[in-house]
Amino acid sequence: MPIQQFVSSISESKLTQGVLYAALFVGVYKLTIFSLSTIALISDLFILPSTDLKKYGAKGGKTWAVVTGASDGIGKEYAFQLASRGFNIVLISRTQSKLEAIGEELASKFGVETKIIAFDASVDEEANYETISKSIAELPVTVLINNVGQSHSIPVPFLETNDKELRDIITINNTATLKITQAVTPRILETVKESKKKYRGLILTMGSFGGLLPTPYLATYSGSKAFLQAWSAALAGELKPEGIDVELIVSYLVTSAMSKIRRSSATIPTPKQFVKSVLGSVGRRGGAQERFATSTPFWAHALMHFAIENSVGTFSSIANKLNFSMHKSIRIRALKKIEKNKKQL
Ligand SMILES: NC(=O)c1ccc[n+]([C@@H]2O[C@H](COP(=O)([O-])OP(=O)(O)OC[C@H]3O[C@@H](n4cnc5c(N)ncnc54)[C@H](OP(=O)(O)O)[C@@H]3O)[C@@H](O)[C@H]2O)c1
Repeated sequence: MPIQQFVSSISESKLTQGVLYAALFVGVYKLTIFSLSTIALISDLFILPSTDLKKYGAKGGKTWAVVTGASDGIGKEYAFQLASRGFNIVLISRTQSKLEAIGEELASKFGVETKIIAFDASVDEEANYETISKSIAELPVTVLINNVGQSHSIPVPFLETNDKELRDIITINNTATLKITQAVTPRILETVKESKKKYRGLILTMGSFGGLLPTPYLATYSGSKAFLQAWSAALAGELKPEGIDVELIVSYLVTSAMSKIRRSSATIPTPKQFVKSVLGSVGRRGGAQERFATSTPFWAHALMHFAIENSVGTFSSIANKLNFSMHKSIRIRALKKIEKNKKQL
């Protein structure tokens, strides 16, 4: 039955018919958007081949990648997987000895050059950022991985968050990330220019489900990662015309010292699996189909992100309540573990 006949058969009133046409239009529009983003999600996750990082200097380009938080967990894995693609690596974290050992391993395994910069990102000193600028002044840097980050030691009510933890989270996740980006990006711009646009630049920043979903009991961490979302997407708009791609990487749990999870599962990858998904899908959105310059690349995280966004929504009361009860129970278990450990001493 043609649409006109169908609408007239429901009501003869012009007003009702107008409302029905409007509802039909909105329904078709929403369904089209949903279908297109589902197709894009499936293509990004399961069909398209891995992104070729040659445009950033991979495969013998002799360009450099700067990786923060590079001595452990996800950052260490970024350093290894970028070195395996031929990037020389600037490794940054607190612990000189760990960085030296990783630098030597990268050099012997992949034949790349490495540089080490050790400082505490929770101490917001201009000298730290100047050291970075000076160390990379002569290097053709094309990639920056803003990975360093800190969360709460255990889920905690905001009003009970201790002052040091609160300040460290904001200083490391936000101030240091912004200042490091200001120290490194001018060098990336020069490298892109000097290469006569043969190479593009790439800045990846680690976001989190904690920033995607307001997370009670991780309020400071949650806010710091939401800040990075807006900052990174704004920077992406500024730097795209200059030849630099900027992306926020959204992740649910990954096995690491920070997550305190050792065993991987379908929804909790190892750093190796996670970073493989990031570097293989640069330029794609994965589960973050609704967000510019943002990617949720690991398949299980991507499906979770997409499902939440297209059902209750990330900022909904129901998502907030579920997240709250999950973190309440994590806090109870963490407190019990602390008590048990105290008794064993
Ligand atoms: N693991 C997860 O489940 C998960 C989920 C979502 C997002 N993320 C994000 O992913 C990033 C990496 O997390 P991760 O799990 O790999 O953490 P991790 O295993 O705890 O590693 C943290 C890295 O940062 C360095 N670091 C820590 N504090 C520092 C400081 N004050 N100054 C300089 N370097 C410091 C550490 O090295 P040193 O101790 O030697 O300094 C280490 O190399 C973070 O931004 C985190 O928010 C993680």
